[in-house]
Amino acid sequence: MKNLQPVRGTRDLIGDQALRFEIIRNVGFGIAKLYGFEYIDTPIFEYTNVFKRAVGETTDIVGKEMYTFNDKGGEEITLRPEGTAPVVRAVLSNSLTQKLPLKFSYCGPMFRYERPQKGRYRQLHQFGIELFGIDNPYADVEIIAIGMQILEQLQIKASLHLNTLGDNESRNNYKAALVEYFLRYESELSDDSKHRLRNNPLRILDSKDINDQKIAADAPKGAQFLTASAAAFFAKVCEGLSLINIEYIKDDKLVRGLDYYTHTAFEFKTNELGAQDALGGGGRYDGLVEHMGGPAIPGVGFAMGLDRLALLMENQALIKPSPIAIICVGEYWSDALKISQLLRSNYKSVEIIYKNNPGKAFKEADRINARYAVIIGEDEIKANAVKLKDLTLSPDHPMKERLVAIDNLLEALNAKN
Ligand code: HAM
Repeated sequence: MKNLQPVRGTRDLIGDQALRFEIIRNVGFGIAKLYGFEYIDTPIFEYTNVFKRAVGETTDIVGKEMYTFNDKGGEEITLRPEGTAPVVRAVLSNSLTQKLPLKFSYCGPMFRYERPQKGRYRQLHQFGIELFGIDNPYADVEIIAIGMQILEQLQIKASLHLNTLGDNESRNNYKAALVEYFLRYESELSDDSKHRLRNNPLRILDSKDINDQKIAADAPKGAQFLTASAAAFFAKVCEGLSLINIEYIKDDKLVRGLDYYTHTAFEFKTNELGAQDALGGGGRYDGLVEHMGGPAIPGVGFAMGLDRLALLMENQALIKPSPIAIICVGEYWSDALKISQLLRSNYKSVEIIYKNNPGKAFKEADRINARYAVIIGEDEIKANAVKLKDLTLSPDHPMKERLVAIDNLLEALNAKN
């Protein structure tokens, strides 16, 4: 039955896959905290204008990929395709611009109507950070350092691609030069690029079309059009990265698919996922807060795709929880319940195995990767004790199994760890 399947481009995250997502989320938030970032959670949908304004009407995201609908009250709503615009909206709605800097981290689903394939989904998941109120180029370096540290902790190999889009003046001059250059080849360009020529000529530079790429190879380079201050800003970013030993590849074709960037633009790329090679991307967006109706406050951030990171972690061994299994030989469920609560209230991970047959119970303990079994039977209960079995030791080991008074159980478990 078709409607029992998840919607195309969406999926359920279960078992190891869900665990990988949990690991990425925890690593992301943990590292962001080291740099002073606080958790923020914004709604999953916004008024459509939030994205039209921030991301840009001519981008693929706004033009083709948004899940937009009218709600029952007739409001035009869009499921968030990305996280930066909602965070900027939240900063403004909550009048947070008086106390700068602001540092936020977030994680959650985003929605883009793209053609699904490996590493590309319609419900994708991002971990992102946004920093407001610092115009020092070393802030860009710190943001990049967070991304690199997350990838390192997840043991994912990626290369950092770096470019500058300059300030408004640099960008406008560069755009004019690109239009002039590409107009000469207009008839040879792909239909997408013909369209971009009029409204977003920078995007022709990262076209996936082979012929577009040939034409773009000889296009004017952005560096020629940088104002002195934009060039100096970029030099500082590069210098800062070198200072903390972060290697990068300068990539003058890296333009990013969202309109809000100024100055620094970067991407973390892998060569293990074919066309979906971007594990994360971001940059500086100094004009965005003002463009959204707030004061002129600089910003910089990035987002990483959990779906793609998780794909690269599929060959890594996962560290699974190893709980204490409570096994009853006979109807001792009330003792099992009391003992498990005693242990859990002392932060031990415990599972009661609800099986009457001890053989089946031990099989289940094995399946859930239990480290210890606490066995409750007639003799034990008479002695106000339990049998504590270390499931990792060989059967003939002298410490494999022993009787422990219930009052001493916690102590015995603590001594073992
Ligand atoms: P983005 O480059 O559009 O940037 O997305 C960031 C990451 O999300 C991508 O590098 C990719 O890993 C993942 N991603 C995007 N689309 C999909 C998809 N359909 N399926 C799977 N993964 C996907 C942004 O969204 C900006 N808001 C980043 C940012 C934050 N810039 C400044 N602050």
